[in-house]
Amino acid sequence: MSILVVGGAGYIGSHMVKQLATSGADVITLDNLSHGYRDAVRYGEFIEGDLGDAALLDQVFSEHSIDAVMHFAAFIEVGESVVKPAKYYRNNFCNTQVLLDAMLKHDIGYFIFSSTAAIFGEPEYTPIDEKHRKHPINPYGHSKLMVEQLLSDYDNAYGLRSACLRYFNAAGADPDGELGERHVPETHLIPLILQAASGRRYDIKVFGNDYATDDGTCVRDYVHINDLCEAHSLALKYIQDNDTSVQYNLGNGKGFSVQQVIDSVREVSGKGFKVTHDARRPGDPAILVADSSLAMSELGWQPKHTELESIIETAWNWEINFLAKQ
Ligand code: UFG
Repeated sequence: MSILVVGGAGYIGSHMVKQLATSGADVITLDNLSHGYRDAVRYGEFIEGDLGDAALLDQVFSEHSIDAVMHFAAFIEVGESVVKPAKYYRNNFCNTQVLLDAMLKHDIGYFIFSSTAAIFGEPEYTPIDEKHRKHPINPYGHSKLMVEQLLSDYDNAYGLRSACLRYFNAAGADPDGELGERHVPETHLIPLILQAASGRRYDIKVFGNDYATDDGTCVRDYVHINDLCEAHSLALKYIQDNDTSVQYNLGNGKGFSVQQVIDSVREVSGKGFKVTHDARRPGDPAILVADSSLAMSELGWQPKHTELESIIETAWNWEINFLAKQ
């Protein structure tokens, strides 16, 4: 099987490329390196370019016999999407349509899409299953939901089969220590705490400790990156075998609070670091936990890293390796 991974130089994409390549697929990465890293693409062929470049896509699809496309090349900062919506709709929606139209032109029938819990907006109940109302509260979430709608219409009209995989909090790193999370700027909780533990950052700020949760800090569903990648491979096989399109919420079903994550990093790293209490971050729901039972029953997906420590260990390992190379 030959798979084009768009955004394969980024955090989730680079792990996907490794998993696909080591399981025997031919993998081609397309990435414009705006947020990804060339040295994160350690397997398969690399093409530098933009998913909105129709001429380039035409060339790539003419020169390679591609069976399926996996798409990870989105902007992901919720706060930035509020102040720069044009950037988000252009890349996350318009450019994705360019990619899909190029696929149609070349008769490529299978597409795996990185969607997000942000399409649900403020949770009306938890854990969140696929039936939950979809009501994004920021342009990032809207841009992803619009692609989901596009995919539904492209399935009906053109027979393009897709899987929309709605990640909750992707976390952790390649257990071999080869790949990890390298966002610039970094805004995600776990890498920020690890940077405080390793001395790369002065402190970690806790955004709000007066939420209606056990310890007052926000609860999230951290799902290990390799478990997420596994779900992509299973979803691709499923849509091919069943000639259908699917949508799944992907988390490990357990919520952990910001405070629990901080405690776990202390435990795993053995390091002390400064914790500062700060105001709530606008738009943060108190609790976001996935109900992934549909993906589990239909795909046979079973997350392996269900304990927070096991997720943190892989990420800490990456942080240490990364620092050693600086
Ligand atoms: N947090 C802190 N301090 C920080 C950073 C984060 O306390 O310095 C808290 C946040 O307030 C939140 C939790 O840690 O309660 C997790 O925050 P992240 O930024 O790591 O992740 P989010 O849950 O905000 O975002 C994730 C994805 C987004 C996606 C969203 C879906 O990273 O891409 O889930 O709701 F949009």
